[in-house]
Formats: sequence, C-alpha cells, structure tokens
Amino acid sequence: MSSYKNLLTAQAGGVLTVTINRPDKLNALSIETVGDLTAAFGAARDDASVRAIVLTGAGEKAFVAGADISEFGGLTPVTAKEFSIRGNALISLIENLGKPVIACINGYALGGGCELALGCTLRVAGDKAVLGQPEIALGIMPGFGGSQRLVRICGKARAMELCLLGDRVPAQRAFELGIVNFVWKQDELRAQTAALAERLANSAPIAVKYILEAVNRGAECSLEESLAYESHLFALCFATQDMREGTKAFLEKRKPQFKGA
Ligand code: COA
Repeated sequence: MSSYKNLLTAQAGGVLTVTINRPDKLNALSIETVGDLTAAFGAARDDASVRAIVLTGAGEKAFVAGADISEFGGLTPVTAKEFSIRGNALISLIENLGKPVIACINGYALGGGCELALGCTLRVAGDKAVLGQPEIALGIMPGFGGSQRLVRICGKARAMELCLLGDRVPAQRAFELGIVNFVWKQDELRAQTAALAERLANSAPIAVKYILEAVNRGAECSLEESLAYESHLFALCFATQDMREGTKAFLEKRKPQFKGA
C-alpha cells in the first residue's frame, strides 16, 4: 500500500512503479506532490530490492500537465525560488539516483511534467502523448531545469524554439528531436515499458550505476577528464562478482544471474 497522498507505488520483482495520482488535475505537480515524489525516490534509492523505476501518471490523459498553476497566485519571489529549488532537487535526485528511471509518458507532459521527464534516464511515450514547455504563455519561464536540460539533450536551437514558442510537441516529433527514446502505441505503452524496465532491472546493478555516473558526468566535463573517470569505473567493475558471473555465463552459453555484488 502506498503511504503517499498524491502517489501510488507498486513493486513487481525489481521494478518499482511510481504513479502520480491526481488525474482530475492532470497530475499537476503541487508543492505537496513534489514532496511526495522526493520522499518516494529517496526511499527507492536506499532500497536494494529496487533495481529500476517507472514514473508515470494516473489516467489516460496526462503524465503531468505541469506545476500546479492554482498555487502560483500564493507564491512570492522568495517562495517561488524555494519551489524551483525543491523541484530541481527532486529532478537531480532522479537523475543521479544510481538506478535507471523510465518516464512513461502516457499523455500530456507539459512544463514541470516535461522537466520531470527530462531528468529521467529514459523517456518512452505513447503515440498520443504531447510534450512541451508552455510557460511562456503564462508570462513565465521553465523553473525545474527545462531550459538547461533541453539544451543538453537536443541542442541550443531546439531548446530556444521549445522554450520561446511554447508549442506542444507530439510524441513522434519529440522522438525525432531526440527527447524521447521510444514511441509505442498508446494501448501497448504500459506493457512495453514494463518489459523495458524488467530488462534494466535484470542487468548488473553496479555496472548500471557506473554507466549512469559516467554518462551524467561526461555530459558536464571535458573529454579528457571524463575518459579518466570512465577508466576508473571500468576498472571497478572488475572487482564485482557480477563481472565474473557475466563473463562466465557468456563462456558457458547461459543467461547470467546478476546479484548486485
Ligand atoms: N495546474 C493546475 N491544474 C491544472 C493544470 C496545471 N498545470 N493543468 C490542468 N489542470 C486542471 C484544470 O484546471 C482542470 O481542472 P478543473 O476540472 O478543476 O477545472 C483539469 O486539470 C482538467 O484540465 P482541462 O484544462 O480542463 O483539460 P483540457 O483537456 O481542456 O486541456 C491541457 C488539457 C493540458 C491542454 C490544459 O489543461 C493546459 O493547458 N494545462 C496547463 C499546461 C501548462 O501550462 N503547464 C505549465 C505550467 S507552469
């Protein structure tokens, strides 16, 4: 049973599914929902039985339609900054969790919803999903890292276009821009996502963690520095039982059983 007011959580094997559960508000991110997500992802990080996470929205219409606009009227510049910092902390937590997080985009992923997805390891979308950064229409700008992660994921020209025009981008175009990894038929989305998550959950957890670290770090520092970092992580893999199991299983022509040790 989930203990969060705005989330549902369910674990099957090594895969934890976190569902934002405010379908009547298109799963908008209230301040409380950001708090629930931070607690849920903190718990998932510390639980060794969780090896992959699927993050999605309840209902058929929305992943997350943005930050909760109804709370904006009560924000001052000081509390708006705190909200932005809390949102950024959540999304950085997800990005650096050490375990893969798949954003299963089942509908609208707008504003803070798109930004939440951008912090996930992989993004998969139903063919009816719609992404975008529409804040400009409200007279504001992205505040949960959208302008910064978009430039890293799809380049300066596209980041400018998406944030300045605020247009809604259909899933297929988001795929073409490199924002979304896979687009699946809407009615196959959840099953395909579960299969992808299970595949990640069955991979060697320490190697997975190091790949996440290497790619995240490589996006932020010089090639020379990040190649040295990759060498260290590559070498550490040779300290693991999973490395021995993976290579032995290959030679014995069987499937490896990884234990995370
Ligand atoms: N914050 C708070 N409530 C939101 C919301 C948000 N970001 N997005 C949707 N909702 C609420 C609506 O107010 C409505 O509530 P109500 O039934 O109490 O009136 C409910 O969710 C359904 O939304 P509605 O607008 O009626 O659905 P729609 O199908 O006509 O339109 C969208 C869907 C996504 C196009 C539209 O809801 C929208 O533009 N949302 C805001 C997107 C946005 O600007 N996000 C960035 C915020 S910074």
